Amino acid sequence: MPIIDVQHLKKSFGDNEVLTDITFQVEKNDVIAIIGPSGSGKSTMLRSLIHLEEINGGTISIDGEAFVENGVYKKVDTIKRVTSKMGMVFQQFNLFPHLTVKGNLQLAPKMLGVKEDVEAHTKDLLMKVGLSSKENAYPKSLSGGQQQRVAIARALMMNPDILLFDEPTSALDPELTGEVLSVMKELAEEHMTMIVVTHEMGFARSVANKVVFMDGGEIVEAGTPEELFGNPQHERTKAFLAKNLK
Ligand SMILES: Nc1ncnc2c1ncn2[C@@H]1O[C@H](COP(=O)(O)OP(=O)(O)O)[C@@H](O)[C@H]1O
Ligand SMILES: [Mg+2]
Repeated sequence: MPIIDVQHLKKSFGDNEVLTDITFQVEKNDVIAIIGPSGSGKSTMLRSLIHLEEINGGTISIDGEAFVENGVYKKVDTIKRVTSKMGMVFQQFNLFPHLTVKGNLQLAPKMLGVKEDVEAHTKDLLMKVGLSSKENAYPKSLSGGQQQRVAIARALMMNPDILLFDEPTSALDPELTGEVLSVMKELAEEHMTMIVVTHEMGFARSVANKVVFMDGGEIVEAGTPEELFGNPQHERTKAFLAKNLK
């Protein structure tokens, strides 16, 4: 059974249909890279999975349970329970500036009344992302790469089964992308299930096991990195790769 099953997802903003008919599955331990031009609907697709956008049609099931079925949403507690299996990392980090690193990590568990092991978990995750010494620092004192690593640790605090990344390195200076990509690579090696919207073709090629090319609100083509980069089938994919694989 796929851990994510999306069937015929449709999403419009007003009259603008930005996702036309998206169907795809994610298996446990998949690392999926989503590539495609700006405006093709990648962010909207990812945000729909975690219910930051409401879709207009289709079904999204996580771990066998739909939280929206044929465009009809389930009860709020069902939506929350199902979508809480996922964590998300954003391009702009979205850390709370008035909270320390530790405060950012512990906000969600505290709001949800998680008591056990929060301190130990915080320490473990900060060590994992290489920021043990920054527990009491405020976001503005950190580099973009460090802030994004905090955001990854924060997303891991609730023990998600799936992590979604929306262009996690696009806001970073080029010399800081490597430290974030290496944390993501490590998560992939530990078999975290991940969907990563990215312009980092090297990462897509070397870390992902599947690559999805989106354009104009639809999935044009999907396959292994070897298939998609080595033998693209569609003109639109070829044109995009010709521009982006320099
Ligand atoms: N909140 C919104 N309101 C209206 N239109 C939106 C909104 N978010 C995205 N869009 C539109 O949806 C389309 C897809 O955007 P997006 O999902 O951000 O694409 P991508 O992430 O691939 O660049 C674009 O035409 C964009 O202008
Ligand atoms: Mg986007």
